[in-house]
Amino acid sequence: MARANPALVGGGVQPHLSFTSLVRRFPDGVRALDDVSFDVPNGEFCVVLGRSGSGKTTLLRSVNGLTDLDGGTIRMGETEMSRATLRAIRRRVAMVHQSFDLVERASVAANVLSGAVAEAPAWRVHLGWYPDHLRARACAVLHRVGLDEIHLPRRAAALSGGQQQRVGIARALLLDPEVILADEPVASLDPAISREILTLLRDVARERGATVLCSLHQTDLAREFGDRIVGMRHGRVMFDGPPARFDAAAEAALYENTPAVVSPKAPVARERSYA
Ligand SMILES: Nc1ncnc2c1ncn2[C@@H]1O[C@H](COP(=O)(O)OP(=O)(O)O)[C@@H](O)[C@H]1O
Ligand SMILES: [Mg+2]
Repeated sequence: MARANPALVGGGVQPHLSFTSLVRRFPDGVRALDDVSFDVPNGEFCVVLGRSGSGKTTLLRSVNGLTDLDGGTIRMGETEMSRATLRAIRRRVAMVHQSFDLVERASVAANVLSGAVAEAPAWRVHLGWYPDHLRARACAVLHRVGLDEIHLPRRAAALSGGQQQRVGIARALLLDPEVILADEPVASLDPAISREILTLLRDVARERGATVLCSLHQTDLAREFGDRIVGMRHGRVMFDGPPARFDAAAEAALYENTPAVVSPKAPVARERSYA
C-alpha cells in the first residue's frame, strides 16, 4: 500500500529529496559533482541521464553516504544528511545495482533476506537467522518481482541476468524503502529485458509511493520511463525537465564530444565525511 505523501502532510509542499550545491572533487582535479542542485518530489521516477563519467554513480551514492562530499547539502524530507542522521537515512533508502551485486554462491532466499541488513543485527544476517516476518516478506517481494518458491533455494548464479536483477529489486524492496537508488540497473541486460526490468521497477515503486532516482545512459529508455530527466555532463546538471522537453539539442548538449575542463590544482578541501 502506498504511504501517505509526506509532501502534503502539514500543508507545506516539501521535496522528498533535495540536493543543494553538491560538490565532489577528486585529487586529480576531476569534479565528479560540480555544484549540483535539484529537488525530487515524492513518488517521482527521476532519471539521471548522462554518458559514462558524468557523475551519476557519485550522485546516487551520495544519497546513502557512500560518497563523501566536499560541499553542499542533501535533505531527505525534513532530515538533513549528517554524520548524526546517516544511519537513519540509510534505513529509508535501498539500492539496485548495475551488476546486480548478488552473492552468486548464495541462494536467492539468502540474497533477498540480506536486504534486511539495516534492520536485523549483522551476526543474524551472517548466520541466516531471520525472524518469520522477514521470511514471509521475502516470499511476498519475490513473488511480486515475478519469481516464486522454486527459485528460493537456487544459487543466484544459476539465474539469468534478468532474473538476477529481479532478485536485486526484491532485496531492495524488503524493508519497504522510501527512496530507491537504481544505478544503471539495466546496463548489463539486453534491450527487451531492460524494458521489462524498468517497467517492474517503475510499477513496484508506484505501488509503494517510493521515490526513484535511476541512472541511465540510454536516452530512449530515459524518455520512455522517466517522469523527469536530469541530464548530467562533467558533474553538472545540463538539463532538467520532463521527457517531452528533452529534444535533440538537449541530447546533443549531453552527448557531443567535448573534453571536461579539469583544474589539476583544484584544492581538495575535505569539509565533510559521513563515513
Ligand atoms: N574514487 C574515484 N577516484 C577518482 N576519480 C573518480 C572516483 N570515482 C569516480 N571518479 C571520477 O568521477 C567522474 C564521475 O564518475 P561516476 O560518478 O562514476 O560517473 P558515471 O556513473 O556517470 O559513469 C569520472 O570522471 C570518474 O573517473
Ligand atoms: Mg556509473
